[in-house]
Amino acid sequence: MGKHWADFQYEIYLHGMTGAVPRLPTDLTRLEEITARRLGPGPVGYVAGGAGDGSTARANREALRRRRIVPRMLRDVQDRDLSVEVLGRSLPAPLALAPIGVLSILHPDAERAAARAAAAHGVPYILSSASSTPMEEVAEAMGDAERWFQLYWSKDREVTRSFLGRARSSGYSVLVVTLDTPLLAWRPRDLDQAYLPFLHGVGTANYFTDPAFRAGLAKPVHEDRDAAVMRFVGLFADPGKTWPDLAFLRENWDGPIVLKGVLHPDDARLAADAGMDGVVVSNHGGRQVAGSVAAADALPGIARAVGDRLTVLFDSGVRTGDDVVKALALGARAVLLGRPYAYGLGLDGQAGVEHVIRCLLAELDLTLALSGHATPASVTAADLVEEGR
Ligand code: FNR
Repeated sequence: MGKHWADFQYEIYLHGMTGAVPRLPTDLTRLEEITARRLGPGPVGYVAGGAGDGSTARANREALRRRRIVPRMLRDVQDRDLSVEVLGRSLPAPLALAPIGVLSILHPDAERAAARAAAAHGVPYILSSASSTPMEEVAEAMGDAERWFQLYWSKDREVTRSFLGRARSSGYSVLVVTLDTPLLAWRPRDLDQAYLPFLHGVGTANYFTDPAFRAGLAKPVHEDRDAAVMRFVGLFADPGKTWPDLAFLRENWDGPIVLKGVLHPDDARLAADAGMDGVVVSNHGGRQVAGSVAAADALPGIARAVGDRLTVLFDSGVRTGDDVVKALALGARAVLLGRPYAYGLGLDGQAGVEHVIRCLLAELDLTLALSGHATPASVTAADLVEEGR
């Protein structure tokens, strides 16, 4: 029998014979509450908070909870293989770490630690444009491990062009363009604390190190930080963009492009028509539109509309292995994991992120096996029932 992700449980039990128990809980839904006790209210509110009253984040969880797996028996699940092809890349499991900005508010090792943890397990790391570490330094920390770059599509063409060139030459293979953040949403937990790290020049590392960004400053960043912050605020996002603008990205990026934040089948069709390679069905973890459709409720319609033309990925609400199985059954090829790894980072740096990845994949492996699946590919809509239907 080859090595399986599920073997992590025996590692934990065997280690336990020396009296040791895991430093963090193995039920990843508990990480938020522990982080809230240990870290400051500013960072915790920023990570855990959502748009408005938080209803979208709750709906994301509820939409997954409502779907129930129907396990099948006697299907030979002895040898299992979780690997999948996604956008021409071979991944060890249907998982990538979602782009999360400003990780330095959670841990001093920030993006480097998260990226190293992903690299240690072969899971792609998606670096945010709003990272607190420049993309070249994160790339260096990862060696040749799989990394993707998330773009916040700036008002300034030259800054965007420069970001794409830098990402390409530092080995980021897939471009993930986030569409759902043309403006910052109404986020009461941040507003009530007047907490926005970017205004302190935190989460601006890619911009402050960028030649095209710097070319627009009268003085170097270290001589007039406030002016640099104001330039960042002015160009960071662009609510004026429309579908034809995607041609610019297609011209300036020769690898796969994925649009993140798609929730309507017609938008997914427009993405395919624009020559994109994939979409991430996502509502940004409920951080942008309060009252929005839950991401898992939007997923099946989008998979039906474009599943044969685009790679359909999913995030928003994934916390456990069974959530991943449900997302696969609803039509996703792979999922992005968000908040749980940020909590793992805040609680225990790189080791905390590794713990989160290993728990999630062990639980995924076991849930698949115990439901009658030896690979992610055999999961279909027929493996789920919906409560109340
Ligand atoms: C995010 N997300 C995000 N997305 C993105 O494209 N660029 C970014 O910089 C960020 N930053 C960010 C910060 C924080 C603190 C959070 C929680 C999220 C959204 C992220 O990629 C993903 O869509 C959500 O995290 C998914 O929701 P859950 O599963 O984490 O609830």
